[in-house]
Amino acid sequence: MDAPSREFMLAGSLDELKAKGRLVLHGGHRPILVVYDRGRVFAFDNRCPHMGFPLERGSIEDGILTCHWHHARFDLESGCTFDLWADDVPIFPVELRDGEVWVKTTFGDADPAAHWRQRLADGLAHDLGLVIAKAVHGQLATDVPAADIVRQVALFGAQNRDGWGVGLTILTALANLLPVLPEEEAYLALFHGARRVAADCDGEPPRRERAPLGSQPDPVTLKRWLRRWTNVRHREAAERTLLTAIAAGLSPAVLADTLVAAATERAFADTGHSLDFINKAVECLDLIGWEHAAAVLPTVVGQMVAARGAEESTAWRQPVDLVALCEQAASELPQLFATGRGVHGWSDHAALARELLGDDPVGIVDALKAAIRAGAASTDLSRSLAYAAALRVARFGNANEHSDWETAHHVFTYANAVDQMLKRIGTANSHGAVRGILHGAMALYLTRYLNVPPARIPGEGDEQLDDLPADAETICAALLDAFDRQRQVDVAARLVARHLKLGHSPQALIATLARAVLREDAGFHAYQMLEAGVRQFTEWDNTDEGRHILIAVARYLAAHSPTERAALQTADIARRLMRGGELHQEEGASS
Ligand code: FES
Repeated sequence: MDAPSREFMLAGSLDELKAKGRLVLHGGHRPILVVYDRGRVFAFDNRCPHMGFPLERGSIEDGILTCHWHHARFDLESGCTFDLWADDVPIFPVELRDGEVWVKTTFGDADPAAHWRQRLADGLAHDLGLVIAKAVHGQLATDVPAADIVRQVALFGAQNRDGWGVGLTILTALANLLPVLPEEEAYLALFHGARRVAADCDGEPPRRERAPLGSQPDPVTLKRWLRRWTNVRHREAAERTLLTAIAAGLSPAVLADTLVAAATERAFADTGHSLDFINKAVECLDLIGWEHAAAVLPTVVGQMVAARGAEESTAWRQPVDLVALCEQAASELPQLFATGRGVHGWSDHAALARELLGDDPVGIVDALKAAIRAGAASTDLSRSLAYAAALRVARFGNANEHSDWETAHHVFTYANAVDQMLKRIGTANSHGAVRGILHGAMALYLTRYLNVPPARIPGEGDEQLDDLPADAETICAALLDAFDRQRQVDVAARLVARHLKLGHSPQALIATLARAVLREDAGFHAYQMLEAGVRQFTEWDNTDEGRHILIAVARYLAAHSPTERAALQTADIARRLMRGGELHQEEGASS
């Protein structure tokens, strides 16, 4: 970016400018267009702020400069655009000295961080992808912490839409990944998160605030009330109850437990999205600060109370009443946890996961009970559940319908949400936590057909995959190449297995998978799959189980790549405009 400077450069004589009408300077970091119009002189960045085409090729009429590429129009005096999608064009001070035109060739805002913060607010308010990309780039370039950008976008999303949406979920998922992303991917992650929040809010009515109750009920009462209001779908009552819990200063863990208890009043509500969104909302607060709980947490209530539970679905009722099975088990499990608490050292997560993939729901519940008796905590069960759900994806049969990928995906991201929430709640006696595990186990059972026949997981046993490259860089390049083509599910799985079996850095592989997602116009589920996969991989590291989880991620992503990459082009144009230099060289340009 240009630094503030007082330097001026001679553009030419005023007579020459009058004769030619316009001149282009090549000083500083960008070409500058100097124009004469009706007795006045103006100077701009010659690169159209929309896509960088040279404004010198545009036309001027009635004090308005029109770019001839997409016909964006700009006020000559201020550089402000009449077409918001194009963005304003930077202007440069001009001085006339003894018949000569002098132009200040560099510029800078007195407070660039504040400038780009305002531009991000403008871009979010009007859903302007290019402005959002520039503002994110501008804030990062002025060393604004990524957490500050996430906070600005998250609070905008919470206030300008009547409920939590996919945009805020994507923002939070990508923000969770920032610590493992290279700098370039961090820019793309923040851009995608912000643009999806803006798109979610575009044309939506703003959220209407509600107030906490004037009383101070105890936490147990508040938890019971929130379950009650969720059951009868009374949104306002549920929001006021939750706001009261927040105002009472309940800890994040207690608030999370209260929400999980209410959300699990319905089984696998909205195919798991209700609990998944709740988990993302509390993770969002970890990122932006729990002092914003009253602004963020109530946004999940609308979906939570309106969600359709699986108990309304035939598949959960016949031929086996899975809801009744869960209810019976949920009443028994707390006592079993109390019994098993004295037993230490349980670590059969992978073995339990295999039992959870069985085809007998009663046997699955019995396996959970046996694990608890043997000392497994609720977080052990949720870890096994998440791994089992990842195996469903890793073994997803290629003969299934393409839309079935989403069925497998829903169980995995739900299981990850349950696991993250239970780690936060940190108690074995949470009724909601127990139900969350049971509902996840039954959802997993119902997707067993997705593994008939199961896809073979590459790299098992002594299989070395020697036909594939050996060095990490070539493997990662081959992986990106595979994502460039359709239906490379098995190729991608083999490359991931090869990379990890050779002991290469998982971080490099994760960065490559992130790159594969961030360069695409990815769907909501791709972001979820990537983030949930990375979170679960950290539980296992580079073991057989960890490898299976990243294979699942790669297979899912390969099934959904490539796309048009329009958003990447926007991000790239914004970055190039921000960095200066010419984007489009014009033959015969005046100088
Ligand atoms: S309007 Fe100028 S490049 Fe598109």
